[in-house]
Amino acid sequence: MENQILKILTNHQGHYISGQDISEKLHVSRMTISTYIKGLKEKGYQIETSTKKGYCLTQNNDIIFIDDIKKQLHPFYQNIDYFDEIESTNQHMKSHAYQQGDIIIADSQTNGKGRNGRSFYSPKQKGIYLSFMLKPTLSIYDSLKITACCAVAAIKAIQKNYPLSPQIKWVNDIMINDFKVAGILCEATIDMNTAQIETMIVGIGINVHHDPMPADLQHIAGCLEDFCDKQAQRQKIIIDFLNIFYDDYTKLSYLSFLDDYRRYSYVLHQDITVYENNTSYPAYVSSINDDASLTLLVDGKQKILKSGEVSIRKTNHQQHT
Ligand code: BTN
Repeated sequence: MENQILKILTNHQGHYISGQDISEKLHVSRMTISTYIKGLKEKGYQIETSTKKGYCLTQNNDIIFIDDIKKQLHPFYQNIDYFDEIESTNQHMKSHAYQQGDIIIADSQTNGKGRNGRSFYSPKQKGIYLSFMLKPTLSIYDSLKITACCAVAAIKAIQKNYPLSPQIKWVNDIMINDFKVAGILCEATIDMNTAQIETMIVGIGINVHHDPMPADLQHIAGCLEDFCDKQAQRQKIIIDFLNIFYDDYTKLSYLSFLDDYRRYSYVLHQDITVYENNTSYPAYVSSINDDASLTLLVDGKQKILKSGEVSIRKTNHQQHT
């Protein structure tokens, strides 16, 4: 019922619709509608109420309708579980039985997870917090390719919806003007005998709508709408991202996504600082390899960087994520 009311209000977004009209559409009493509206307001939806005109969902609501998403996704994707609030979509997927192609979407996370034990700020209605399950036939040594493929899909989906030119900060961050606007967290289980990936949970968080960031993030993180005037719907970005990802994922072995990965790179041919095991050292990124690892020049010697507990920062930039 809640969802049906939200759908009607969304179809009239920015305009009033009377309680009578809604109750007739849904074949319930006006009292029932009024009770549900109260509940929706308590959940954080911004609905204006007028005794004369009825209810108006204000323009700054961006509601995700799972049925709309399902209809437009490639059939590879299976069930979608939606939560108004969850601890972490990755964590939930890890601790429940999900199949390949299953998706979890949340409107907010109370303990969103980032790489290297960091957290991911996930306020209500402001971003995309999404995990999906893969069971790829892939060795653990190739797992970076999935993160890279996901980053490319995120960039393309953002560009389909906004006049922006984001870049990929190896390996899992999406940047605009030195601010992080999205992050990817891939978590795998491995068959130790074969070194093959058994399951891979791909988690992505994208900061979409304006929201005052907590003080410790203000200088390093931003959202898409900080960088342009347009407003897009999160569900449209979700659909584009998942369909683009699937397209590149089915061609993973041809490495076609890598051209884009290199083209969108924030660090290729740049001086960086590498943070590894409580130490840091300067390096130059000379290439991005076919397994999505980086070749660095460190003190004139080549070094290959493959994910792990490593983070990098562009030299002479404040950014450190
Ligand atoms: C990072 O910044 O290091 C990665 C951030 C990944 C955040 C997403 S939001 C959806 C999914 N669930 C999580 O708890 N984390 C990922």
